[in-house]
Amino acid sequence: RSVGIGRAHAKAILLGEHAVVYGAPALALPIPQLAVTASAGWSSHTADGPGELSYTMTGTPSRALVTQASDGLHRLIAEFRRREGVTGGPHLEVLLDSAIPHGRGLGSSAASSRAIVLALADLFGRELTEDAAFELVQTAENMAHGRASGVDARAVGAAAPLLFQQGRTEALAVGWDGLFIVADSGTAGSTKEAVQMLREGFGRHPGAQERFVGRATELTWTARQALAEGKPEELGARLTDYHDLMRAAGLSTNTIDTLVEGALWAGALGAKITGGGLGGCVIALARPERARQVTRQLHEAGAVQTWVVPLKGLDNHA
Ligand code: PMV
Repeated sequence: RSVGIGRAHAKAILLGEHAVVYGAPALALPIPQLAVTASAGWSSHTADGPGELSYTMTGTPSRALVTQASDGLHRLIAEFRRREGVTGGPHLEVLLDSAIPHGRGLGSSAASSRAIVLALADLFGRELTEDAAFELVQTAENMAHGRASGVDARAVGAAAPLLFQQGRTEALAVGWDGLFIVADSGTAGSTKEAVQMLREGFGRHPGAQERFVGRATELTWTARQALAEGKPEELGARLTDYHDLMRAAGLSTNTIDTLVEGALWAGALGAKITGGGLGGCVIALARPERARQVTRQLHEAGAVQTWVVPLKGLDNHA
């Protein structure tokens, strides 16, 4: 084959971010309409290049990820070749076409990595198991983020909402067909810095880690139950509680808090920051008939982009 194609999508963490780094469970939502496609082929110029990756990005205004994560992506390609026993050959050229904004907690780095892994597998005619693809994505994620929990690497390939804990996933039972509105604050946050900041804080305050992880775990399990039983008010309340937990840990920003308050004011059942924090996105849970008001208010409160993600029927889009 002369060209391989791979695709992955964005994700939002519903609950459990940060605590998941310490082994707690997390709930995640795929965002199928925000996708990245990778195409892998052989480079025509074999001149001394830095390596195997020549990288073009379209569809996004920023090239930040390319420089930030390129070490991870180079490692990913080398690791793919090593594991699959694919050696030699001319330089590879990988093109990424991504609609996922960077640094917004939407999993852009994991989605790019997964798309690349699938494109390489396609190019070399290899069948990869989900676990093999996951582990390859994790090699790049660990370089970009320090020690990544793996929730992003799983969620960017999932077709439906999922529960993640310590590398394992299961599909979430969804007993209600409401929707999430994902709102981009327009400001990037560094997941790596946020994870480090929290770890340092835990080091300074004895018991803080146990309290944070304990509360996060309790909220995540309660929300999972509420989602399964179709109790939207309960689910919404736990989301907002999780926002308060992250805010108290210093992971929110004024802009993000304004978006959360705006969503709640407009009738969202719950709202919170999502992902690493220190910027990024807010997710708001809404009944379908409230979605327009909530979306409008999020824009009025400063959101630069919003996406509506239905809880049910995601499989149709993935
Ligand atoms: O900001 P994102 O989308 O990369 O989410 C990171 C989630 C964290 O729990 C903060 C880190 C991790 O490794 O799980």
